[in-house]
Amino acid sequence: MIKVDVSNVISEEEIVKYQEKVTKINKMIDEATGLGNDYVGWKDWPVDYDKEELERLLKDAQYVRDNFDVLVVCGIGGSYLGAKCALDALKGVKSDDKLEIIFMGQTFSPNYTKQVLNYLENKNFAINVISKSGTTTETSIAFRLLKDLLERKVGKEASRKAIYAVTDKEKGALKTLCNNEGYATYVLPSNIGGRFSVLTPVGLFSLAAAGVDVKAMLEGAALARKEFDNDDLKKNKCYRYAVSRDYMYRNGKAVEMFVTYEPQMSQLSEWLKQLFGESEGKEKKGLLPGSVTFSTDLHSLGQFLQDGSPILFETVINVLNPELDVKIPHDDLDLDGLNYLEGKTLSFVNQMAYQGTLKAHQEDGGVPCNIITIDSMNAGTLGYLFYFFMRCCAMSAYLLEINPFNQPGVEIYKKNMFHLLGKKGY
Ligand code: PA5
Repeated sequence: MIKVDVSNVISEEEIVKYQEKVTKINKMIDEATGLGNDYVGWKDWPVDYDKEELERLLKDAQYVRDNFDVLVVCGIGGSYLGAKCALDALKGVKSDDKLEIIFMGQTFSPNYTKQVLNYLENKNFAINVISKSGTTTETSIAFRLLKDLLERKVGKEASRKAIYAVTDKEKGALKTLCNNEGYATYVLPSNIGGRFSVLTPVGLFSLAAAGVDVKAMLEGAALARKEFDNDDLKKNKCYRYAVSRDYMYRNGKAVEMFVTYEPQMSQLSEWLKQLFGESEGKEKKGLLPGSVTFSTDLHSLGQFLQDGSPILFETVINVLNPELDVKIPHDDLDLDGLNYLEGKTLSFVNQMAYQGTLKAHQEDGGVPCNIITIDSMNAGTLGYLFYFFMRCCAMSAYLLEINPFNQPGVEIYKKNMFHLLGKKGY
């Protein structure tokens, strides 16, 4: 489904040196004996998922698709980025689908929140609220506002048919609220952390409502699970990529820059930044994940990448065949001098920009570049890609001797904020 070329970053000789470590860690992942081992539920999820729950989810998502104009997805971090990434990658950034998807609960921004609430005043909308803990402040505030608006518009009874929650099976304030109000709920299993949850109801409800073939997405992930469930560094492209990242880190690179040539793939970079950043950035270790979208950013950060401090390497994610394309037309006067491109497609121009940039960065700039090539993007490929990166992330973090599945560092700002907000006990 994808090609992974790490040859510009690490030699076969260096890869082989990792074999023993990788064998040990792969066993640890398989047998769930590593750090954070009660959070490896994502590993077998593409085959182990609750089939009955998925059927119920699909039915409810279809109901939302048939009966509402807007679905507001309310969540943050791992309860937001996966769905946003998949919607952009599969539907485009200017989607004209009959169901509009809007995100809320990922910010305290008063401007954004008020704008969305104003917009929803005259819309027939449903809510998909997502929180594993059920206590995340951004999400809880946004949901309180959305619920209040919805109940004022359509009443409490009709609201019950318009609210769909994803949360823990038993615990948390959201679960209690859902039980009290009788909202439809789907489970985010306790052994799967937020940033590893895109293939659970967390990502799947809104994607199904948007008309995405989520079963194909799970099948793509199941295929990746089968392919990467081995420790053979000669053929396991997921672990080869993990090893290349570790090699860069140990050879002085501080930043992994994710590069795409498609604005609709930019959110994949956001998802990756959370996945790797929150999983690996601990104990004063880890690569800082960054991202650029070319050719747009060739006119801003492109200069730094070519010529600036040599602190980074790139991982380019190149989709060869776009779903849509545009041909450059003829112009009689040719005052813009573009007739030499007449009849050529924008995808051709984009690919030439890719090839030219890669050569410039690798050869002239001396920037090591991994290349992940995707023939075309669809639900199956994306599911495969999600699994590829999650498994790579677990391997990478264990190579750093770090627990991939916790995030102790994000609690500190919360404590300070709660203290300042006057929350009881802080
Ligand atoms: O990856 C993670 O665990 C976090 O980013 C969470 O997804 C995020 O903090 C949201 O948490 P919750 O789903 O509990 O509201």
